[in-house]
Amino acid sequence: MKQLCLSVLFVFFITLITKAAPGDVHIAIETRQTALVIRVDKDQSPTLVHLGSKLRNAAEYAAIPARGKRGEDYTDIYNSVYTPAGSRNLLEPAIQVTHADGNPSLDLKYIRHESQSMADGVVLTKVYLKDPQYPFEVTLYYKAYQNEDVIEQWSTIRHTEKKSITLHKYASANLYIPAQNYYLTHFHGDWANEMNPSEIPLTEGIKILDSKLGTRADLFQPPSFLVSLNKPAEEEQGEVIAGTLSWSGNYQLAFEVDPLHNLRIIPGINPYASAYSLAPGTEFTTPAFLFTYSDKGKGGASRSLHRWARKHRIPQGEGNRLTLLNNWEATYFDFNEEKLSALFKDGKKLGVDLFLLDDGWFGNKYPRNNDRAGLGDWQENVKKLPHGLGYLVKEAENAGIKFGIWLEPEMVSPKSELYEKHPDWVIKLANRSEYYFRNQLVLDLSNPKVQDFVYGVVNDLMTKNPTLGFIKWDCNAVIYNAFSATIQNQSNLYVDYVQGLYKVLDRLRAKYPTLPMMLCSGGGGRVDYGALKYFTEYWPSDNTDAQERIFIQWNYSYFFPSIASCNHVTDWGKQPIKFRTDVAMMGKLGYDIVVSKLTEEELTFSQQALKTYEGIKNIIWKGDLYRLASPYTNDVASSMYVSESRDRAVWFTYLVNSRYKAGSQAPIKLNGLDPAKNYRIRELNVYPGTTSRINTSTTTYSGNYLMAIGFNPQVDTRRTSVVLEVNEVK
Ligand code: DGJ
Repeated sequence: MKQLCLSVLFVFFITLITKAAPGDVHIAIETRQTALVIRVDKDQSPTLVHLGSKLRNAAEYAAIPARGKRGEDYTDIYNSVYTPAGSRNLLEPAIQVTHADGNPSLDLKYIRHESQSMADGVVLTKVYLKDPQYPFEVTLYYKAYQNEDVIEQWSTIRHTEKKSITLHKYASANLYIPAQNYYLTHFHGDWANEMNPSEIPLTEGIKILDSKLGTRADLFQPPSFLVSLNKPAEEEQGEVIAGTLSWSGNYQLAFEVDPLHNLRIIPGINPYASAYSLAPGTEFTTPAFLFTYSDKGKGGASRSLHRWARKHRIPQGEGNRLTLLNNWEATYFDFNEEKLSALFKDGKKLGVDLFLLDDGWFGNKYPRNNDRAGLGDWQENVKKLPHGLGYLVKEAENAGIKFGIWLEPEMVSPKSELYEKHPDWVIKLANRSEYYFRNQLVLDLSNPKVQDFVYGVVNDLMTKNPTLGFIKWDCNAVIYNAFSATIQNQSNLYVDYVQGLYKVLDRLRAKYPTLPMMLCSGGGGRVDYGALKYFTEYWPSDNTDAQERIFIQWNYSYFFPSIASCNHVTDWGKQPIKFRTDVAMMGKLGYDIVVSKLTEEELTFSQQALKTYEGIKNIIWKGDLYRLASPYTNDVASSMYVSESRDRAVWFTYLVNSRYKAGSQAPIKLNGLDPAKNYRIRELNVYPGTTSRINTSTTTYSGNYLMAIGFNPQVDTRRTSVVLEVNEVK
């Protein structure tokens, strides 16, 4: 009995210390389905009390117990909205500062907040915080994209202390979520092996995902993740948070399960070697962290991110894209005007919109005939291209297609005139031997002169060739021996590099707002929403083996919409051209093959596929994606894209297992259709000389039937890929 009384008393006590007090202020950042709720108590301490489903009655946010009502927090800031280091904090901070007087502590009190409605259902809330002892301020920004259920969060930091202060850590966000269990899906890999998922339960302590590559967020792991609450992530059920940092450089994502078993997520720039010196009166803006909360599993989360990206982030995200023929794998560095002119004609014959000339067209003193020379010398190689790029642009246009070009303007070959002329433009340490990544070094984009140079490379090209239709912007090297010849504080370099890059891209986008640009980084090393603010599309991987691409594209699809995914049909892998084409169609279709080597059947198939693609591309690019069968747990991978009005869908299924009898044994349940509509199913991309097993049927099915019972696309070892169109019958 005594024990029972004690327990009741304990529960009462905990309830008392965790409940909102009558005077507490609540700031609700809401989207259509989600709410992030900040509580400010009488001491002006801002804490995060809710991240999850939006409540119908906002007044009830005041009843939410802090910290999931789980017990005592000795500091009262485990769930701080932006945990300051050095005062009473005991956990991972969001911000750590040394003030101008050497004091290493920070406290952040709420001053005020304001919300403003912007266009298209976007509401920006600013929460102003200040240290009571120092002229040091942080403003937290929460941009709520209401219709897309995405929240974008960042902060600005400024001070008017007597001298510069040092920012040791400056995260973008600091989330707090109580649940029974947490499952983190993160992604890892390397060149040609991007985006392998690992799902792990998070236990007490910290799990860090990070990168220290300097020029790009990714090579080993991207700055994107999924956290599933209570149980491992499922495709269409359960609570999932998908998060991604908009930053193309060193990042850190910290996941801390705190002593109360609540999850703290602290994403931001990597503090590694980046203690940032901030002068008085200047402002530091962190990159934005983007996240969405879904109670419809990973599928719901990715559909929200896709909608958001198309509407609010990727240039012309709701517009058009060009199909193209690239010459990289067809010629590598070995081409001349004659060969290229023949390729333009091939591209036209195939039926693509554009020819993309890849690496190897520049450099004279040090010709770019392999990857060991010439990078930085952006003048046409007179031997290969005696009549210059202008001639090629015209030749392509005469053949009836547009012309695009490859650049890697941030990097330099040690064997180049640029390096000889401007050794101080290169990131390197004078007393260490040079160490190369793909035989190259990185230009110092923290230097405004280098920014002008990089801007000038693109601007000159565009000025001389105003009809140039496309740029592929590559970035192969990482930063070794980080040191700038011009910067004052070396530890600002990693941050200033990325900010310098963004300054160049801002200038380019201001002048060329509609130029299609592909983001490439020695494969998929730079797929992040910081860079995708400027690029219309990205290159997921140099690995274009269609079997591998099924997995790679599957994992990117959690975060990035198919309109931005450049999928090329190449000669990697041993699959028939139909399989390769079907896989490449699940995004922005392109080719990197020798068209003249295609058999007549292959050419006819490809020409027809491009025509078919024209008619379905808008459903693939702008429709809702449903991943139906995972290649990780099935013999087949299956995904469908459904148009907004649910009258059309395109459905792709591939065999991913070659064992005896492998295939789609049973019907696959469709998703996203209108249960009340009737549909007919028709097979697309049927290879010449074969007959469809599906097109013989005239049966119509209700959406209800297709989603409850399903349909078997009949994928097996003789039909390794099947593309079906699901059309409403009126
Ligand atoms: C790496 C890219 O990923 C490739 O597609 C190609 O453009 C090469 N660079 C060219 O050097």
